Amino acid sequence: MDSAVFQPIQGMSDLAAPEISLWQRLEHAAREVMRLWGFTEVRTPLLEYTHLFTRSLGDTTDVVQKEMYTFADRGGRSLTLRPEGTASVIRHVAGLGAEGDDARLYYVGPMFRSERPQAGRKRQFHQLGVEAFGAPNPAADAEVIALQLRLFEAWGLSGHTLDLNTRGMPEDRAAVTQGLADAARPHLGALCEDCQRRFETNILRLLDCKKESCQQIVANFPPTTQFMGEASRKYLDDVLRLLGKLGINAKVNPRLVRGLDYYVHTVWEIRHGALGAQDALAGGGRYQVALGDKTFQGVGFAIGLERAIMAVQQDNPALAAAAPQTGAWLVALGDIAREANLQLAKQFRCAGIACGMELGARSMKAQMRAANRSGAKWVVIRGDNELAAGTAALKNLADGAQQDVPLADLEARLKS
Ligand code: HAM
Repeated sequence: MDSAVFQPIQGMSDLAAPEISLWQRLEHAAREVMRLWGFTEVRTPLLEYTHLFTRSLGDTTDVVQKEMYTFADRGGRSLTLRPEGTASVIRHVAGLGAEGDDARLYYVGPMFRSERPQAGRKRQFHQLGVEAFGAPNPAADAEVIALQLRLFEAWGLSGHTLDLNTRGMPEDRAAVTQGLADAARPHLGALCEDCQRRFETNILRLLDCKKESCQQIVANFPPTTQFMGEASRKYLDDVLRLLGKLGINAKVNPRLVRGLDYYVHTVWEIRHGALGAQDALAGGGRYQVALGDKTFQGVGFAIGLERAIMAVQQDNPALAAAAPQTGAWLVALGDIAREANLQLAKQFRCAGIACGMELGARSMKAQMRAANRSGAKWVVIRGDNELAAGTAALKNLADGAQQDVPLADLEARLKS
């Protein structure tokens, strides 16, 4: 058969058993943490008008310039598969009016970026993100960072580090650009082609170029805080002080700028040793986006879930492996027992006991093989004798022990 028939699009994957159960457990634990922190879920469409992203992420960013899946719909309108969640959540909050001013929202779902696929980098990937709206306030930034770290704790992660920096306020931008341009100009010829372009279009991005030769040059640039006003430096100090009060140790990384233009003040990134070259487990920051006649301000983060799964597999193998052996498999000897088992399966399932059974007429051996494959803990075996006696043979698949149990006692035994 033509393999293209069953291959998903390059860089995109099906998520299914057995891994899906770890995804579900991580999401379940996260939803509970977010409830405790006072966030509610929002599910926005996967498609948006393209201008939402060009306006909010910035039209010189890599995401907008190189990575968006953009196409025209039948009416000729330009649509884009969301490359991230913040812009859509801001659009949603814009529609809420005054009620949205202090909205606290989270989202879980697929994002799309047309990047070169490699380990930990997909074209369809999943983010769990949080956005807390409100005017700049160091306490809000510290609270959201604490939430993010609490999520990692709930997942049993330990191998991550937090890098933090400030992008300053919009009014610092001219001085920061000037300061960086002065520092970079003497080295312009030695910078990579991308950075030579960034020098003109988005000079901050020089600081996080991945090329070793560029990194050596920017390592000697003064930190951007040197070009910022006192208010921006104090804001950063306040965030660090409040994080300290929450027992959180953040490393200030003056080269951290993040790749999206909407950031102001605090930005941060979480890295994890399990991730190899694509080591960013999560990123976040405070942002400011003008939409219509209003400016939206908030702070938030997004965790890459494919990467979180890799990190959990390294740090918390017990959680990653846990596939609880629960439930029962019903085995029938003969047609009458099989029909009786159909009723029994319904009764068990309604009573909260997961169970499966062979629906066709198959040998005892084949049914036992299916029972083993199912991961069930118990096998319930019935034939004519058991039906007549009102009992079932109950076998524990873990140790092979088998015993006749009256039908009336079965539910309690299976739940034990
Ligand atoms: P971001 O840094 O672009 O931020 O993405 C956040 C996380 O998504 C990354 O740290 C990474 O774990 C994951 N990620 C990004 N691209 C890929 C990919 N191609 N394959 C797999 N995982 C990927 C944002 O998206 C911002 N919206 C975060 C934010 C929310 N800032 C404020 N609020």
